[in-house]
Amino acid sequence: MMGARRNPSPGCYFLFLGELLLAAVLSAVPLGVLGGYASEARAEEAALFKQHCMACHTVEKGGGRRQGPNLWGLFERPIGGLPGFAYSEGLKAEQRHWTPALLDRYLEDPKTLSQDSYMMYSQADPEIRRRIILFLETASR
Ligand code: HEC
Repeated sequence: MMGARRNPSPGCYFLFLGELLLAAVLSAVPLGVLGGYASEARAEEAALFKQHCMACHTVEKGGGRRQGPNLWGLFERPIGGLPGFAYSEGLKAEQRHWTPALLDRYLEDPKTLSQDSYMMYSQADPEIRRRIILFLETASR
């Protein structure tokens, strides 16, 4: 059994390290969780969503509720319209559908849409809001 006694060449180790590094980079971006939002150019927007929203929201189809409702299909449904989620009175009373402009206002201050809002989050930076909304326009469909 010659093969069993042969030491791997240094090149093998480098290959192995390279694979480890690749695995680490890939696992840092949970593509599955983010609904196949794979474009590298969009990775930063995905990272912003992860950082600002994912503690309370899933976005992929069939994703569970956290503190907030699942956001799949957001722009195709009425505000406060995910069946089974216990929304605040303000969101329940809303008749409109979500649009990027309404979402921008809501993220800046949820109380503009719902006086008794349950969402304990707001974002004063318009650039962060813009990029997260761009992400959602793709990832929620
Ligand atoms: C601390 C938890 C928390 C964070 C962080 C958070 N949300 Fe929410 N979100 C909620 C809760 C709770 C509700 C339900 C609000 C209500 O009923 O008044 C909600 C509701 C929403 C809704 C309305 C959904 C619908 O079905 O009408 C949208 C859209 C939304 N959030 C987007 C976001 C985005 C985008 C971010 C990140 C920028 C974010 N949220 C961050 C908890 C959170």
